Amino acid sequence: MKPSSAPGDLVVPHSVAVIMDGNGRWAKQAGLERIRGHERGIDAVRTTVTECAKLGVQALVLYAFSEENWQRPAREVNLLFGLLKKFLRDERGTLMDNRVRLLHSGRRERLAKDVLDLLDETIALTVQNTGMRLSLAISYGGRQEIVDATRALALRVQRGELQPAAIDEAAIHAHLYHPELPDPDLLIRTAGEQRISNFLLWQVSYAEIHVADVCWPDFRAEHLRAAFADYGRRVRKFGKVP
Ligand code: IPE
Ligand code: IPE
Ligand code: MG
Repeated sequence: MKPSSAPGDLVVPHSVAVIMDGNGRWAKQAGLERIRGHERGIDAVRTTVTECAKLGVQALVLYAFSEENWQRPAREVNLLFGLLKKFLRDERGTLMDNRVRLLHSGRRERLAKDVLDLLDETIALTVQNTGMRLSLAISYGGRQEIVDATRALALRVQRGELQPAAIDEAAIHAHLYHPELPDPDLLIRTAGEQRISNFLLWQVSYAEIHVADVCWPDFRAEHLRAAFADYGRRVRKFGKVP
């Protein structure tokens, strides 16, 4: 797909995914508790959502809490979910003003009822919004998503609805959490870390990767624009000879 152009000839990817990393390191550098870094990270979430919507990104997936993050100390996990609830309550105006439609990617099983209720309410509130789709990846793992898709397919085979030979890439894709979301064109990770950490394993197969050195709480519009400018310089070949 041809990327769209924003003012100043910035190449805007259709679909962006972000591994928001470095909250703990940001706090440590400031001599603060880790949770203060998570709190400050909310400003970067608001900026990124607003800027992406304004620039014309069609889908944004933010990695907010991984399946593996459940292994963090209970206090940090509780504080993180407290912040998520606060975000869902406080930022409804931001979502509505920018015509953003909210989605959730991940497993629901381990999420507390109050978190699920707020998530579902906000998703319902924004369901008619026709602008950018924003998926929050919470209790999300890329391997778990593929496991869940595989189980759903196995069930269809068991019911006699599907022949094993009919399982192809499109069938797996159709059973992912949000098959309607386009694969990310650009994957951004902050805090200088060069790994995927179980994020969107199926979907990132041809994503361009941009690693920003700043920790997530310091991520601003200028860093997003720098990522898009970097993306604009990439030659995407998809295995072919250009
Ligand atoms: C990212 O920041 C937020 C989550 C993973 C929830 P970290 O908490 O991973 O920050 P660092 O990597 O320890 O600096
Ligand atoms: C990935 O960051 C998960 C999120 C950003 C939510 P982590 O900080 O958990 O990843 P690792 O442990 O450095 O790989
Ligand atoms: Mg981290």
